[in-house]
Amino acid sequence: MKVLVIGGGGREHALCWKLKRSASVGEVVCAPGNPGIAADARCVPVGAEDIKGLMALATTEKPDLVVVGPEVPLVAGLGNRLREEGFAVFGPDKAAANLEGSKSFSKRLMYEAGVPTARFEVHVDVKEAIETIRSWGAPIVIKASGLAAGKGVIVAQTEKEAIDAVRGMLAGNSFGDAGSQVVIEEFLSGEEASCLFIVSGDTILPLASSQDHKALLDGDLGPNTGGMGAYSPAPCVTEIVAEQVLETIARPIIAALKKKGAEFIGTLYAGVMLTDEGPKALEFNVRFGDPECQPLMSRLKSDLGEVLLAAAEKRLDDVTLSWADGSALCVVVASDGYPGLFEKGQMIGGLDAVEAAGTTVFHAGTAEKDGAIVNAGGRVLGVTAVAASVRQAQRTVYDALAALDWPGGFYRKDIGYRAIVREER
Ligand SMILES: Nc1ncnc2c1ncn2[C@@H]1O[C@H](COP(=O)(O)OP(=O)(O)OP(=O)(O)O)[C@@H](O)[C@H]1O
Ligand SMILES: [Mg+2]
Repeated sequence: MKVLVIGGGGREHALCWKLKRSASVGEVVCAPGNPGIAADARCVPVGAEDIKGLMALATTEKPDLVVVGPEVPLVAGLGNRLREEGFAVFGPDKAAANLEGSKSFSKRLMYEAGVPTARFEVHVDVKEAIETIRSWGAPIVIKASGLAAGKGVIVAQTEKEAIDAVRGMLAGNSFGDAGSQVVIEEFLSGEEASCLFIVSGDTILPLASSQDHKALLDGDLGPNTGGMGAYSPAPCVTEIVAEQVLETIARPIIAALKKKGAEFIGTLYAGVMLTDEGPKALEFNVRFGDPECQPLMSRLKSDLGEVLLAAAEKRLDDVTLSWADGSALCVVVASDGYPGLFEKGQMIGGLDAVEAAGTTVFHAGTAEKDGAIVNAGGRVLGVTAVAASVRQAQRTVYDALAALDWPGGFYRKDIGYRAIVREER
């Protein structure tokens, strides 16, 4: 079959890479793709947020399956439009995508569904928000309700920090429309994990567990980013925990959406905190995590094309997934300055040598200039290895990265440390 993948980041590279290696898939087309994806798919220069352009592309290409990678087109209703035209689509409709598109909607639905999650309030008024902050005290979590590319959450250690954040969102314009409503949450402590599910109507198929590192700096310090590295499986997600997340978080939220008339077809990503009281939902996303997708696809042994088509066609019941033993780990290489401002257009060398050392290099923010690969975004590469243990996968990636020739890039040196501590205990 022919598959059209929407997006052009590291997640979409991992999806295209795996689809190309699926027996059921004959051709992969990607819009817009990137220079790394071009090795696995035919890239077409239509932006992932250009709904009109994507509809026109689907009409010309006539794919047997469309896989929507990022959240923005899903929240904008690309799934609805494609389904109306009769395409098989992996990715939820707008109403279900709201689970990610609006944190206030999502939290309210969690409460209705009885999903364990942090206490919260939704505010549009600065004064009332500040009253809540003063009465709950710090630490406290402030979230822009709308989409903010992974940057709209402030885990405030002091009341002042929290107040500055709500002022920035509600009175200022720090996240534009996305910050016109804020969600204030009780701070939860524990270890975090990403639990992903392929969902098709009532059928919910768990993927292998994974964990990402959102913080910029070693030791999980510094500001949050889109994600600086990830690995799978996550040793803290035991079989019991996985079962709890499925039964108390994933099933009830999908059922609650259905009750509202929104059927879910796509990837449900539950960000969970493993607290002393059991797993609690931090948030939902409606697509694969980036970078979690890179280690997950590296470990998946099943035919991805078949799985996603079965979900799109609502026959997921018969599908089971199989995974490579051992662990996969991905280290993100970012542009110096990210998540703030950074310079683009720097030459990146040594990529072949990095791969020759036993890794797969997934491209995210890269471009091609005069035949060379240059940086074009904040997060640029996801260097991934599969090995018998997290420790070994980590070693392979970091050893390979010694061959990377890009002085303007940086990466964390400790991706996977929590898992390694558990592994070696
Ligand atoms: N209630 C909470 N208590 C403690 N930490 C939290 C809480 N809510 C969020 N966080 C921290 O902030 C991070 C980002 O929060 P959240 O997942 O809601 O944001 P997001 O921007 O939607 O993330 P993503 O880019 O993964 O979609 C979480 O991964 C977690 O580390
Ligand atoms: Mg999110």
